[in-house]
Amino acid sequence: MKNITKMFGDFKANDNINLTVHKGEVHALLGENGAGKTTLMNVLYGLYQPTSGEIYIKGKKVNVENPNVAIENGIGMVHQHFMLVEPFTVAENIILGMETTKGIGVLDRDKAIEDVEKLSEQYGLYVDPNAKIQDITVGMQQRVEILKALYRGADILILDEPTAVLTPQEIEDLIKIIKNLTNEGKTVIIITHKLKEIKQVADYCTIIRRGKYIDTVKVSETTEEELASKMVGREVSFKVDKEERETGDTVLKIDNLVVRDNRNIKAVDGLSLEVKSGEILGIAGVDGNGQSELIEAITGLREVESGKVYFNSKDITNKTPREIIDSGISTIPEDRQKRGLVLEFTIAENTVLENYDREPFSRKGILNENKIKEYAKDLIKKFDVRPNNEKIKAKALSGGNQQKVIIAREVSNDPDLLIAAQPTRGLDVGAIEFVHKSLVEQRDKNKAVLLVSLELDEVLNVSDRIAVIYEGKIVDIIDAEEADEKTLGLLMAGRGGKRNEN
Ligand SMILES: Nc1ncnc2c1ncn2[C@@H]1O[C@H](COP(=O)(O)OP(=O)(O)OP(=O)(O)O)[C@@H](O)[C@H]1O
Ligand SMILES: [Mg+2]
Repeated sequence: MKNITKMFGDFKANDNINLTVHKGEVHALLGENGAGKTTLMNVLYGLYQPTSGEIYIKGKKVNVENPNVAIENGIGMVHQHFMLVEPFTVAENIILGMETTKGIGVLDRDKAIEDVEKLSEQYGLYVDPNAKIQDITVGMQQRVEILKALYRGADILILDEPTAVLTPQEIEDLIKIIKNLTNEGKTVIIITHKLKEIKQVADYCTIIRRGKYIDTVKVSETTEEELASKMVGREVSFKVDKEERETGDTVLKIDNLVVRDNRNIKAVDGLSLEVKSGEILGIAGVDGNGQSELIEAITGLREVESGKVYFNSKDITNKTPREIIDSGISTIPEDRQKRGLVLEFTIAENTVLENYDREPFSRKGILNENKIKEYAKDLIKKFDVRPNNEKIKAKALSGGNQQKVIIAREVSNDPDLLIAAQPTRGLDVGAIEFVHKSLVEQRDKNKAVLLVSLELDEVLNVSDRIAVIYEGKIVDIIDAEEADEKTLGLLMAGRGGKRNEN
């Protein structure tokens, strides 16, 4: 890609970027949230037309007018947010749009399934071709996306933050798959914020900052620290600064909670837990052990079958989400697009989603647009949301900046309890540093913070106490000072530790 510039209105998302990728390599693309990585790849995949610049594929200049041209030229892309048809099966999704027909318009399903199976075998991308998308895990859905691209003949595969939604085990599997792909001569461009992964899997890394090309480095000759500072333009601290603190009263008390999941299975199964003011309690666990259902139950989004939730000694079990927010609980939800934001609303509107109907944002049913604008501008500045424009719709923000808007809103509500579910998923290291600081700040203001994260590093670094969840129960609670990755890992796998008796 040569001198690629992409403007949105008068905003330069890509500013004269060069990117050279060689056959058979894994090339990482690194940059802060909003740096322009997805935009650049959308240009390569023909979803956007560059304002200026040229694309050469296998030495030939190509005008990538649309994704069909990209596909014809062997480019495949797996997006940050998947684009699968949920009620359809794996095989149907893979062959969608390129059905092999038997006679007139009759789909040769057997042949298609056979082809899919051959591909999955070849690259170690195991999936059940007959399963429906809605019934398989996110990790499996991602394999379907990769298979779909391969089925269309891709030999250059773009993966946009493929690991952001995966569990540690799934990440390891994906890394193996990427290695299989390059061993078979495929080329992979991977966008990721995780420096550890870049070190593990990539040969080269190109860094962009605020739309501009910064450097391309050989990964074996660089360090995580160097990558981080190139990307952010300053030194980044990987360590969370925090001082010892005394904890206060119990803010959240969960007593013998039972909650069922969508399949009517007990996802939370007799769970008890307390979070005190002035502490960050981290919940560590492998994805799918009841974390999501627990948070949904606390916040009123899922019915509690039995057991109680107390907040500041008041019973809030099965109250409505609105009542729970109003009582002083804020949540940074796991799924920012579904729960955290109204994508069609502006940043300003999103910052007051929960209190637009009160003073100072409205009076006697009339919105005070100026107050909302002022408030939003202030949050944008304080939380470094880019671009700095409260009138932009949330859907036009990069993933990381969408997350910053949610965090800004939830932290600014000044809650007694802040629940943070995967708060740094998809964020760059600079932004992660910022989020962690915000959580510690809440704790230092004597608030209670409940952190749920699949990132062990994060739980270990940020929490004061760590509760390990396994099959819907807390199997042990450890002081963060005394915890290490290995002990937690064993507990998370259901081995070792004692039952929590309270
Ligand atoms: N369709 C669009 N209209 C207007 N602005 C856009 C559009 N798409 C992206 N932008 C802006 O361009 C910039 C780059 O966005 P992009 O999605 O490429 O960032 P990114 O590097 O992928 O970030 P992240 O790591 O958060 O995913 C952002 O400031 C974003 O708000
Ligand atoms: Mg992106």
